[in-house]
Amino acid sequence: VTGADAPRGGGAPGAGRAFALVGPGRAGTSVALALAAAGWTPVAVAGRAPDAESTRTTAVALECPAVLVSDAGRGVDLVVVATPDAAVTDAAETLVPSVEPGALVVHLAGSLGVDALSPLAAARPDVRLGALHPLQTMPSARLGLERLPGSWAAVAGDPEVEAIAVQLGLRPFPLPDNRRVLYHAAAVVASNHVVALLGQVERIARAAGVPFEAFLPLVEASLDNVVVLGAAGALTGPVARGDLGTVERHLAELAPSERDAYRAMAREALRLAGRRRSGADRLLRDLDRPADPPARET
Ligand SMILES: NC(=O)c1ccc[n+]([C@@H]2O[C@H](COP(=O)([O-])OP(=O)(O)OC[C@H]3O[C@@H](n4cnc5c(N)ncnc54)[C@H](OP(=O)(O)O)[C@@H]3O)[C@@H](O)[C@H]2O)c1
Repeated sequence: VTGADAPRGGGAPGAGRAFALVGPGRAGTSVALALAAAGWTPVAVAGRAPDAESTRTTAVALECPAVLVSDAGRGVDLVVVATPDAAVTDAAETLVPSVEPGALVVHLAGSLGVDALSPLAAARPDVRLGALHPLQTMPSARLGLERLPGSWAAVAGDPEVEAIAVQLGLRPFPLPDNRRVLYHAAAVVASNHVVALLGQVERIARAAGVPFEAFLPLVEASLDNVVVLGAAGALTGPVARGDLGTVERHLAELAPSERDAYRAMAREALRLAGRRRSGADRLLRDLDRPADPPARET
């Protein structure tokens, strides 16, 4: 270990080893705090600039200096690259001169393969590379840190990436570069699209004059049912019953701006229910109808 204060964490798995964080945002700071808790020593933080707000805040949280990306590799065993996806390859390029021989550079992007670090692969064959994507949503460093233990994580590249994931309490699984985009699409649907759908629930509930909170136990129970029964087994409601009239009445009352999402999800529900149900084909045709009956605006 070089360039650091005395290692923290006693006999923890990462004890005696140093890391730097490039990209001190939500995910990077969550992972950096988890590494520190596992005994790794934070040595440097590099963001868009040493005086950028996220860089200064994370440097304080990790109790280490803010540096330039070009200096972040100096004296560390591990560099975590947690910039926005579009900046990962540039960061790798900037890191080329400073990374120590034998050190590991890992990015956190779900949709990118290890090849996103190609400038390092080309210029520094003495450096180990990997990708570690925690399959979790980290809306802030604090929540991210709480949610990492027990989360799954897609790992690729150097074998130490899997060991580090285990140290963070993650459940690693290998994922080759050529399947990461599809995997990440599933993750986006699982997290962001579910949240977007709940935004629709919030709007329609408001139009109905019922508090959004009243729907949350229903949301939680539906999710619990999926865990126990799988998605198809958990499906209830008018589409699963083939109850076309109810669906038609929903569409008639919904604001026009809510109908596309409602139709799209009704089609998905129908796909899940299978086409054996009587009326299903007619329901699909109705959902594809271009013209809508007059509706109330919300
Ligand atoms: N958040 C999640 O739930 C989550 C989950 C899994 C994986 N990830 C992955 O983690 C990575 C970061 O995502 P995030 O959500 O943490 O984003 P974020 O909160 O926007 O953080 C990005 C950080 O990188 C800094 N940055 C921007 N451009 C940079 C550059 N060229 N060089 C150095 N630092 C730069 C930003 O600085 P400023 O603050 O100054 O803009 C910010 O500190 C992405 O690859 C993402 O796919 C995120």
